[in-house]
Amino acid sequence: MSILKVSPKGNFSQIIYDIASDKSISHRCAIFSMLSNKSSTIKNYLRAEDTMCTLNIISKLGAKIYDDGDIITITPPQSIKEPADILDCGNSGTAIRLLMGFLSSQSGFFVLSGDRYLNSRPMKRVADPLRSIGAMIGGRDNGEFAPIAIRGNSSLRAYNYTSQIASAQVKTAMILAALGSKGVSVYKEPVMSRNHSEKMLIAMGAQIEIDDTTLKIYPQDTPLEPLKLEVPNDPSSGFFFAVIASITENSQIRLKNMLLNDTRIEAYRVLARMGADVEFIKTDSKYEDVGDIVIKSAPLSGVEVSKNIAWLIDELPALSIAFAVAKGKSIVKNAKELRVKESDRISVVVENLNRCGIDAKEFDDGYEIEGGEFKSAKIDSYGDHRIAMSFAMIGALVPIEIEDVECIKTSFPNFIELLSKVVNTDLQ
Ligand code: S3P
Repeated sequence: MSILKVSPKGNFSQIIYDIASDKSISHRCAIFSMLSNKSSTIKNYLRAEDTMCTLNIISKLGAKIYDDGDIITITPPQSIKEPADILDCGNSGTAIRLLMGFLSSQSGFFVLSGDRYLNSRPMKRVADPLRSIGAMIGGRDNGEFAPIAIRGNSSLRAYNYTSQIASAQVKTAMILAALGSKGVSVYKEPVMSRNHSEKMLIAMGAQIEIDDTTLKIYPQDTPLEPLKLEVPNDPSSGFFFAVIASITENSQIRLKNMLLNDTRIEAYRVLARMGADVEFIKTDSKYEDVGDIVIKSAPLSGVEVSKNIAWLIDELPALSIAFAVAKGKSIVKNAKELRVKESDRISVVVENLNRCGIDAKEFDDGYEIEGGEFKSAKIDSYGDHRIAMSFAMIGALVPIEIEDVECIKTSFPNFIELLSKVVNTDLQ
């Protein structure tokens, strides 16, 4: 098991060009390229374990993939190949749930599985609505846990479905199923979740009408246009560096070429509400707004976070490190979804903050953190990449050890290299 030791190096002013490429968009590039009959070309595809699993899966489904080291060209098959083996989604919830939606309307038999963490995460949120429109899906505990088996079925019914959770994974699975069904479908969600799927599919020629949190999806009988896009850098991965810049006195960081989609930068807005100096500089807008984010340190104060949770769910562990440094108390509510991420992020954040001498308490749907002084400690990542990277930020203030850091490769392979620009790192 690898251990990462991190310790302070003093104040810094840095420009970072190569934050990991956006994970959500990269998964979608791989899967959506299968909806065309021409080659898609993707620049800056995320070459991390999660998204390489998705690329490997579409290759097992018959896509031809050519990677020149810069641009990945994906040529879809004329018809989906039935794979001879299971499709390995690794640690990726996005891969498995999106593929459940896509494969439900393809002909063939498919088994999706992953690592021990993924295979203990809930899948009925996707399996149940898909089954209600005719999809044939089995799995452990009646479809709650992977391995998930799908007998593809080309006669899925159109639907009118209201989701109880704001989940882009559920939404995307249902959009993909709707495209392969026989009539016009309507999908509603309680709050808008990240909206990359609808943007990308509309750009590819799909007929999807958006009215606030309601989508009307028309079936797609003809192939879509291919994707030609450059994936911007991932604001969720950049956020670790936003936190470290905001908690290190007299420091600043400029993150280049970042995705600036509103549903993805809410955590930066919370950091600004706490007192950090955050600036968004838009430089481009194709498929999505893209630009630089500049963050400067400033004294932070505690906040309550209880709205738009879906827009910052992945950043809450990193935001919690800022809460622990802030003056006063911070509270997170309505965030029960944190319990079913790569780890139970409510109990893991609270337990690890307590190890560092910070007063933090968990509730069923969130936690409260009283700002204080960190003491050096050993952190357990519980195999969760975002926990490992979030707690590494403490190393800007006191020496810290993070156990079990291999998981960082699932989303951000060059994380430690970038981290060593702003703190001392030692990987053992
Ligand atoms: C994602 C959606 C979110 C997010 C995950 C990526 C996506 O999950 O937490 O990291 O790419 O669609 P939910 O759909 O479960 O909210």
